[in-house]
Amino acid sequence: MNLRILTPILLTVFLFACSKDKIYIDTPIDQLLEASLLRAAKDGTLSHFILPDNEDYSNIPQDSHNPITAEKVRLGKMLFFETGIAVDANKEAGKNTYSCASCHVPSAGFRPGSAQGIADGGIGFGRNGENRTKIDAYREWELDVQSVRPLSVLNVAFVENTTWNGRFGSKGVNIGTEHRWTVESGTHLNEEGLAALETQNIEGLDVHRMNITEEVLDGYGYRAYFDAAFGDFSEEERYSKKAAAFAISAYLRTLLTNEAPFQTYLKGDKDALTEQEKRGALVFFGDAKCYHCHKEANLGANEFYAIGVKDLYQTGKAFNTSKDDIRNLGRGEFTGNAEDMYKFKIPQLYNLGDAPFYFHGSSYTDLREVVEYFNKGIPENEEVPSSQIARQFKPLDLTPEQVTDLTIFLETGLQDPNLDRYVPENVLSGFCFPNNDVFSQIELGCGN
Ligand code: HEC
Ligand code: HEC
Repeated sequence: MNLRILTPILLTVFLFACSKDKIYIDTPIDQLLEASLLRAAKDGTLSHFILPDNEDYSNIPQDSHNPITAEKVRLGKMLFFETGIAVDANKEAGKNTYSCASCHVPSAGFRPGSAQGIADGGIGFGRNGENRTKIDAYREWELDVQSVRPLSVLNVAFVENTTWNGRFGSKGVNIGTEHRWTVESGTHLNEEGLAALETQNIEGLDVHRMNITEEVLDGYGYRAYFDAAFGDFSEEERYSKKAAAFAISAYLRTLLTNEAPFQTYLKGDKDALTEQEKRGALVFFGDAKCYHCHKEANLGANEFYAIGVKDLYQTGKAFNTSKDDIRNLGRGEFTGNAEDMYKFKIPQLYNLGDAPFYFHGSSYTDLREVVEYFNKGIPENEEVPSSQIARQFKPLDLTPEQVTDLTIFLETGLQDPNLDRYVPENVLSGFCFPNNDVFSQIELGCGN
C-alpha cells in the first residue's frame, strides 16, 4: 500500500482513538454535582438516574405478562399514531380523525401542544397541536376531553401507577384500594393483575373510541403484524384490544429520553452539560431539594402530593369540566380517603421545554414561572385546604441566579433532542397522523 492511501487511514484511526480516549477533567462543579447526585440516589449510585437505552429491551422495566419484543414495538409504534383505528367516534364527522398522539404529540414532548387534549370532536393541529379546537358538529359533552392536562408518556416505563391520580395498576400504592376498582371508575381491569400501563391502555382504547376491526386487520394489513407479535396468543385474543394495548404498551416503554444532555453527562461525558446547566442541576439536587420528590430515574415518583396548583377549569378555557367536578380531588377522588384529597402524582420532568403547559391544570405556561412558584411556596388554588399542602412546599429563598440556572437545567439539560426516532414513517392505513381532519391534513402537509 502506498503512502498516499495509508496516510488518511492512519489519520482516521489516530483521530478515532483520540476521541474515544478523550480525557475528561473534573472541575470542582462536577465534583460537587456528583456528590449531590450520589446523596440523592436511592441506591447511592449514579446509575439510579441513568435511563436504559431505548433499544436495550431487557433493561427496560416491563410487565412479565407482556415482555417487550421488537415485533410488539413495531406494531405499537404504528397503532399509537393510527387514525385508522379511530372508528368508534361519537359522530360520523369524527371518524378516523384522531389517534393517541392527538393528545400525546411527539414534538410537544408527548403531551398536547395545548392546555387540554382533544381527540374525537377536535379539529386542527397547528405546528405542535396548539391549534386543536372543538368541531362545530360536536356539543361539549360529546368531545373526548379530560379534566386534567394529558401527562407525557415519555419514560412511562418508570410509572408504577398511571394517571395523575394513580388509579391504574393493582400493585404499589394501589394495594388496599381493591374496593374502588369498579366499572364506574373505569378501573375494574386492575383485577387482572397486569401492570398499570397494560391495564390503562386496554381501557384507553375504549375511552378514546378506538377499535381493531376487520378493516384495520385486512383492509390496512395489520393482521400479519398481530400474528408476528402475538403468535403465542389464542386466535380469539390475538387481534383484540388487549393485544393492541399490549403492543402499544411495549412501544411506550421504549419512549426513553436517553439522549438528553443530562443523561449523556451521567454516562460520563462531562462536557454534555453547560456550566449553567450544571449549576442548575446542583440547585435541583441541592438547595431547592426538588429531588426529595422528583427522585426516580424519570425525575418523577409514584407518590402523590398537593402543591395547591389550579385545576383545568380555572383556565376558563377547558371543555367539559367545572368547579364541582369531583375529579379535581385528585387521588382522593379515587381512594375516597380524606388524606388523599387534592393530591396529584409527581410527574416526570424530561422534555418540558417542548410545550408550554405545566401542572395538572395547565395553570402555568412558562417554565421559569413554575420554578418561581416553587421558590415562593405559596399555593394558588383557594379550593385546596392548607392542611393538605405538602410540608416540603414552602419558600426556598433561591437567588434570582439560582432560579435562572434551575430553569435552564430543566429546559435544555433535560431535553432529548431526537424524539423523532419514536415517530413512524407511515401508518398502514396511509391516513394522515396524528390527526386526520381536514384542517390537520393541510397543516400537517398530508399527501393531497
Ligand atoms: C383526548 C386526549 C387523550 C387521548 C386521545 C389519549 N390520551 Fe393518554 N392521557 C390523556 C390524559 C388527560 C391523561 C391523564 C389522565 C388522568 O390523569 O386521568 C393521559 C394519560 C396517559 C397515560 C398515563 C401516563 C402516566 O404517567 O401516568 C398513558 C400511558 C396514556 N395516556 C396513553 C395513551 C394511549 C395509549 C392512548 C391511545 C389509546 C392515549 N393515551 C390517548 C389524554 C389522552
Ligand atoms: C412535595 C413534593 C415536590 C417537590 C419538593 C417538588 N415537586 Fe415538582 N411537582 C410535584 C407534584 C405533585 C407535581 C404535580 C402537581 C400538580 O400538577 O398538581 C409537580 C410538578 C412539577 C412540574 C410540572 C411538570 C408538568 O409536567 O407539568 C415541574 C416543572 C416541577 N414539578 C419541578 C419541580 C422543581 C424544579 C422542584 C424544586 C424547586 C420541585 N418540582 C419540587 C411535587 C414536588
